[in-house]
Amino acid sequence: MKKKLFLFLGVLIVSCQNTTKKTTTVDHEENYRPSFHFTPKNNWMNDPNGMFFFNDTYHLYFQHYPEGNVWGPMHWGHATSKNLVDWEEQPIALYPDEMGYIFSGSAIVDSNNTSGFGKDGKTPIVAIFTHHNMDKERAKQIDVETQSIAYSLDEGMTWTKYEGNPVIENPKIRDFRDPKVTWHQDTEQWILTLAAHDNVRFYSSPNLKEWTYLSDFGQDIGHHGGVWECPDLFPLKEKNSGETKWVLLVSVNPGGPNQGSATQYFIGYFDGENFTLDPEFANELEHQNNFWVDFGRDNYAGVTWQNTKKANGNKLFMGWMSNWDYAQVVPTQKWRSSMTIAREVGLINTENGYRLTSTPVENAFALLQKSSDQNQDLNGWKKLELNPNFNEKVGYRLSNHLGEVLEFGFDANTNQFYVDRTAAGRKDFSEKFAHRVSFAPRISNDKTIKGIMLLDKTSIELFWDNGTTIFTEIFFPNAPFTQMEKF
Ligand code: FRU
Repeated sequence: MKKKLFLFLGVLIVSCQNTTKKTTTVDHEENYRPSFHFTPKNNWMNDPNGMFFFNDTYHLYFQHYPEGNVWGPMHWGHATSKNLVDWEEQPIALYPDEMGYIFSGSAIVDSNNTSGFGKDGKTPIVAIFTHHNMDKERAKQIDVETQSIAYSLDEGMTWTKYEGNPVIENPKIRDFRDPKVTWHQDTEQWILTLAAHDNVRFYSSPNLKEWTYLSDFGQDIGHHGGVWECPDLFPLKEKNSGETKWVLLVSVNPGGPNQGSATQYFIGYFDGENFTLDPEFANELEHQNNFWVDFGRDNYAGVTWQNTKKANGNKLFMGWMSNWDYAQVVPTQKWRSSMTIAREVGLINTENGYRLTSTPVENAFALLQKSSDQNQDLNGWKKLELNPNFNEKVGYRLSNHLGEVLEFGFDANTNQFYVDRTAAGRKDFSEKFAHRVSFAPRISNDKTIKGIMLLDKTSIELFWDNGTTIFTEIFFPNAPFTQMEKF
């Protein structure tokens, strides 16, 4: 009996080995899975949520449907990292309940126990998120979305929902979501920024439970191709002068610079009650209205980490590396979507005015060093340099033996960067995926164009001119890109 079982198992193992061997050559799943960008082990992911830093650990939560590879009942998945590059997925943090799905939101380290949730000297972490009620949505009611809180006394691993939820009732606005909380030092209170259809609303609180409406911003300002989502408000120091400005990020879907989802930004001042645009910025906005965190098609709903302190005052940021135009049909089945690399966001006053800058977090360079060798595996990071003459189009082409090509570069005729994924592999899964080239204006006037490229099998992130123009795009070649040519 035993012998027979072993024989049977032996045959099974051999035949399994054979099938896995066979399938890996045709199965794109793991070939497509990025090696240094976060992806959920299984199934669907969208926005990053609740990012905070505590006790040497970076926490990342995310919109997650653990039972399917398309959007569904939203949970908060969870991952942790010591270095912002290597992520370890943790058990699910928040499950949907009778009040609804758990939509996007933020989390803060409540060091002074303002919430009173702390116990036995344990620092409470408080999450604030949107409860999205599907019964109300189906019944076409308007008050579908409310804001709720939960707290954790074990550093973000397990959570208890507050019995007094919701903490902000719906004021009869259908799209009313994605709360982002920050501590406002000058007025010593919590400030919550919320997307409310076509504007953002600010609320204040002493204890994260009782919220007072303060003001709104943006109804006729910026881009309104679609609904406003996932705002973030934070101060930044201008790189050279050290002066402080307030930055407001607002995602909009659709309405991005190259169609679909994208994140715009505003620079101004927040006094604890109102956000007002910087006069110079307001003037520029009126003339060009082209201020995007990323001009590529695949960086959406990004927000910053709470409780990190960089000496230069910069913030840490991460976005969802996809676009609602096609996110649910991209050709991966086991997992769907990854996050961008973690980025350091700063502010610079250029000859052309204030600009937000993004660069990969420093850790990324050291950790990905091995693969940056110019002639080996293209995955990893590389320095780029272009010296366009008048009227010239210059750039790089990544290709494989099948003749598939991803081209990107700069066109001096139009003073624009571009990324062209129209011939970069699979695209038949969506008419909206690769039907056109993406463009971004150049901000810098430097003669030489310097950049950094991050390549990770199915994604490219381009950081041009010290991070003043950013491009993030995904693609699905039928064989890995092995050649890189400059033209
Ligand atoms: C943005 C978004 C948020 C919402 C979440 C739902 O991508 O639509 O506004 O909270 O996704 O998953």
